[in-house]
Parts: sequence; structure tokens; C-alpha cells
Amino acid sequence: MSAHAAPTKRLALGDLAAKRDAGEPIVMVTAYDFPSAQIVEAAGVDIVLVGDSAAMTVLGYDSTVPVTIDEMLMLTKAVRRGLTRPLLVGDLPFGSYEASDEIAIATAQRFIKEAGVDLVKIERGGTTVDRARALVNAGIPVVGHVGLTPQTATALGGYRAQGRTAEAALAVIDDALALQAAGVSLLVVEAVPSEVTAALMPLLDIPVIGIGAGADADGQVLVFHDLLGIYAGGAAKFVKRYADLRAASVEGVAAYADEVRDGVYPGPEHGYGMPEGEAARLRELIAGR
Ligand code: KIV
Repeated sequence: MSAHAAPTKRLALGDLAAKRDAGEPIVMVTAYDFPSAQIVEAAGVDIVLVGDSAAMTVLGYDSTVPVTIDEMLMLTKAVRRGLTRPLLVGDLPFGSYEASDEIAIATAQRFIKEAGVDLVKIERGGTTVDRARALVNAGIPVVGHVGLTPQTATALGGYRAQGRTAEAALAVIDDALALQAAGVSLLVVEAVPSEVTAALMPLLDIPVIGIGAGADADGQVLVFHDLLGIYAGGAAKFVKRYADLRAASVEGVAAYADEVRDGVYPGPEHGYGMPEGEAARLRELIAGR
């Protein structure tokens, strides 16, 4: 679809299953505020995730762990205001769902009621399958996340590919199957060898979205700042940069700074004028004081 012709009918979960059945790749991307939501909407993506990657890309934390529910809600509400067609997924941050089913449901309900998300995403971890089942039973559509799960990256040995041995791959597959059995609507698979995704796909009935998981998944997700080159520093191996907005932005701000310092900006065309005679009257008023 052309970037200039985004349709406005809101997608439904069933549309994702239909795309999967038709072999039509599903496009998912992150967004974190109103302008980025408007950009991804105009580009015609299917699913928008307000990822807890916002902790690093937007808020400057050094991992996803510190971001709070309130910080995520503020960003998610802004994205909601910029979207019409894509499904919106809210990422439940670390510490906001693991401790009990009641806590998980209460947190997810805040994302639905306050930020208008269509689904919530939770990462793989000790209690995740139980929490996923509880959320689904409470009528909340859930996205599971297996493979590399940044909220528990320390326990996984750091930010590295998962499932690289047959046994480790089976563990990723078992996580995925357990989440499907718990009723999740969609699964994100992050940073696993392509062979693991290829082995997983025939075992699952739900749409699978890959990130660093090869080309066999039903769709792909990338982080907005990674794919547009907004983020300074290196990116993961699976990231492809489609633009270099950081360089363009630095160049733009530096040109502005130069023009201010050189007295070029603002020019007469950027200013306001008074109606005829008002400047003379003002001088008289000042002189008469
Ligand atoms: O937080 C995030 O952006 C994510 C994606 C990388 C899937 O979880």
C-alpha cells in the first residue's frame, strides 16, 4: 500500500487471523507519542505497540526495567490520540503484572480504560502463562512475548539470541505453546535463530510476529527509533535502518543555531507587522509618558 493512502477503517483481531490465513505479512511497529503514531498510521502499518522499549528510546533509562505504569500510560494515551486504523497494543511494564492475577488484571484494565489499547503484551517469565490465562479469562486480549525478553534479560544472560541449542530452542517452543494454550491472541518471538521460528510456525494457530526471528513468522515488528535511525549508538543485528533521522535532525538544529548566531533567522518574512500608522502612534504614546 502507498504511504499516502492509509485507509481509516479500524482493524479487528479477526483481520490479523485472516491475513495469516491468506499468507499476507502482518506489519507491526512501535510508536511512543502523537506524532510517531500519526506517522505509522500514515505508513499503513497493521499493529502499533507502545513498547516498554520507550524506557530506553524515549525516557533515556539504560534498560526497560525502570519504566513505570504511569509513564507507559502517558505515552500510550498520546499514541491512541494519533491512531485510527491499526490495532494498538500496550506493553505492561516490568513489575506491573507478575505478582498475582489480580494485579495483572488491574494493570491491564488501566491500559484499556485509560489509554484505549486493544490488547496488552506481557513478556515470558515464571508466572506469565498463569497471568496470560487470567487476563484472557477476564476478557482482555493478550500478546505473548517469547525468546529474548528484555524485562528478564539479566536472567537470560544478557541481550543475546535465545534458543541456540536444540534444548534451548525446545524451551522457547514450549513457552510459545503454553501461551497459545493460555489463550493469547498473538505472539511476539524475539531474537531466536530462523530455524527455531521455522520449527515453531507449524505448531501454532495464532499469528506470530518476529523480531530478529527470521522470515518465517506471519509478520515483523521493529522499534520506530531503530528503523528510522533516531537512536544514537549501535543497534541489534536484526535491525535494518530505513532512514537516518538523527543525522538529519542534528543537521537541521545546527543550521537553525548557525542562522540565529549569524543574524539570518528570523527574516522579515517570519515576523508580524502592525497596521499602518500604529507604530507611529506607539512612538507618540511612549514620548508622551
Ligand atoms: O518493547 C518493545 O518495543 C518490544 C518489541 C521489541 C517487540 O517489546
